[in-house]
Amino acid sequence: MGIRPAAPPLLLHDVIDDLGAVERLLVEQAPNTPLGGWYSPESDLGAATRPLWFQDDWVHDTFHAPGSELFLHHPGYVEAAKRFSGAEVVVPTSVYVNVMTAITEGGPAHTDNPRFLGRDRTNTPMWVLRAMLWSGLFHDHEVHQVTAIWWMNDVEGGALRYWPDGPDRAPVDHDTAMANTALVGDNHTMFHQVGPIGPFGSGTLRVTPRAEFAPIGDGSGDWAVTDRGAEVLRAPLHDVRVSVLWKADVWASAEELEARAGDTLSMVDVARTFDADLVERGAAVRFDLDRLDDPVLKAALAEVYPEAVPIGAFASAFG
Ligand SMILES: [Fe+2]
Repeated sequence: MGIRPAAPPLLLHDVIDDLGAVERLLVEQAPNTPLGGWYSPESDLGAATRPLWFQDDWVHDTFHAPGSELFLHHPGYVEAAKRFSGAEVVVPTSVYVNVMTAITEGGPAHTDNPRFLGRDRTNTPMWVLRAMLWSGLFHDHEVHQVTAIWWMNDVEGGALRYWPDGPDRAPVDHDTAMANTALVGDNHTMFHQVGPIGPFGSGTLRVTPRAEFAPIGDGSGDWAVTDRGAEVLRAPLHDVRVSVLWKADVWASAEELEARAGDTLSMVDVARTFDADLVERGAAVRFDLDRLDDPVLKAALAEVYPEAVPIGAFASAFG
């Protein structure tokens, strides 16, 4: 049971030649909106619950921001992904940006959400995908991904804490000279966490899910967080933690990709595999496809297949 171990990540230096191009991308793709989803599922749009952690997609299935090729097809990333994973085939899939400031605690210590052949967040509840990962029952169908995290600048705080030797061993911090470096590894099995980010004088500021982070556009180069019609914070972009994430699917070879890509899991397959294991364990719960929205089922599966909790994590601003 459990997740497969990840190899320690690779640290790259001097990753992006044209930093001005990144800044232009940031300006063109603004505004950024608060991180939500898995870590902040509450739906009260009027409540100031979100820390100043903003996100924007630059590349996904149906969208490519002009200029995002700078990251998507970065030759250094493709080469590092091959070196890290031993894979011959690297298929970049997504690029997104995190813009963060004034978070006195850290982000959540976590592993990224997994995908499996035939099952991803478009057709399967996230808790099911995570139970699939942590059960260890679906390794053969997991789509292996490599992630690169790139940092634009050095700011007050903003370390990346990660657990290269597994959640039970001491973490490592990447916390100095982070500007224009990238960490390339398997964030789907290696725990990682954003550390506290300054400025620290006012504590963790919080906004509603409708807040925006965007350039002021007055020629000063400043950006501002606005929420409910008011300016919450104003800062030069270079004082704000900017990181850009890149993900790629990796396949051992073109033959493997061809042979495995069609081997997709249905929800019935998923239920059958879970139930066989639950019977073997003597667990009372069954994976009932009619109860996927039932928190009781989710909790019961989480008890049988618990996620690890890494040692030595920062407190999280996400609760
Ligand atoms: Fe992550």
